[in-house]
Amino acid sequence: MTIISLARPEIVAMKPYSSARKEAPGYGILLNANESPWPLLINASLDGAGPASGLNRYPDPQPRELVASFANLYGVPKEQVLVTRGSDEGIDLLTRVFCRAGKDAIAQCPPTFGMYRIAAQTQGVDIISVPRLASNDFRMDRDGLLETLENDRRIRLIFLTSPNNPTGDIIEQTFLRDLLQAAVGKAIIVIDEAYIEFSQQASATDLIDRYENLVVLRTLSKAWGAAGLRCGAVLAPEEVISLLLRIIAPYPLASPVISLAQRMLADGMSDRQQRMLKDVQENKKRLLSLLAGRSFITNIWPGEANFVLLQVCEAEDLLSFCAGRGVILRGYPSEPLLEGCIRISVGSKHELSVLKSALDDWEAR
Ligand SMILES: Cc1ncc(COP(=O)(O)O)c(C=O)c1O
Repeated sequence: MTIISLARPEIVAMKPYSSARKEAPGYGILLNANESPWPLLINASLDGAGPASGLNRYPDPQPRELVASFANLYGVPKEQVLVTRGSDEGIDLLTRVFCRAGKDAIAQCPPTFGMYRIAAQTQGVDIISVPRLASNDFRMDRDGLLETLENDRRIRLIFLTSPNNPTGDIIEQTFLRDLLQAAVGKAIIVIDEAYIEFSQQASATDLIDRYENLVVLRTLSKAWGAAGLRCGAVLAPEEVISLLLRIIAPYPLASPVISLAQRMLADGMSDRQQRMLKDVQENKKRLLSLLAGRSFITNIWPGEANFVLLQVCEAEDLLSFCAGRGVILRGYPSEPLLEGCIRISVGSKHELSVLKSALDDWEAR
């Protein structure tokens, strides 16, 4: 059985759209894409490097250089890379390719990132939830997940997050292998590694060659400090990438995004990234120590990402109090498992000192 048999038959059967830039190279006398031959009407500058050029032309749908940079960064062949508008787009594409409306389902382990649910609901597919165990530090219910996979043949995609948002825990490799094995011929395991650079955990990408049902999502939004760029990558076996290419927008990445992402991933930038990761690590220690011993905090889950999860008394009031001081934290009023929980991102030294004063005042009120 190949992975293609898990995809929606209509996606496999359809003739994909072929854009002008896909059919012919983006140089020469370009009269094939109904573009303007004149440069941008405004004198825009992308990054202080002079007027933007080339914006009158459509970009390369999957820029070769950028695909190669991602392949190099994540240690996979180029054929296993799809560059996307962040992981959000990867989640959406996977759901649309593999799940038939009204028939199939995705599985997830809440509390977790909310976009898996949105992608499933948008596509009209069921969401099978295997809740994390609140009594065991929100660890995944591994047996429960394996059992659910065994019993529910509608599951096409299992979305797992490592480290998980908002609980910060990671997926152990031995369990991941068991799950991948159990899912062969049944479902695709999607490991969302948006926060993996902050942890000591090895990426699951090394397993892609061994399991045709493994997909890994990576992003420049978190540990590369570029959430505004909207750029990430789906890493997967070539068959999965070619299925996703069938439905992705003809020109998903804006030219300025392509050139800025390419510059970020160029040689020498990874040193800067390492320094940033070290700063996050130090500031996380600062954050944890400014939280330690506070009477209104009943639990702290430090996790392995650039945020921590706490359980507090009077969460709603505390969130409003902090917001009144200009400090915006994340609460979970509609997530029953996270009652009284608040997530705090690791900020700069200054941001943490403002947070500290707000918490001091809250405690002394
Ligand atoms: C687990 C997880 N995956 C994906 C995303 C979104 O990533 P991107 O900005 O690349 O779309 C987030 C954003 O918070 C996240 O927490």
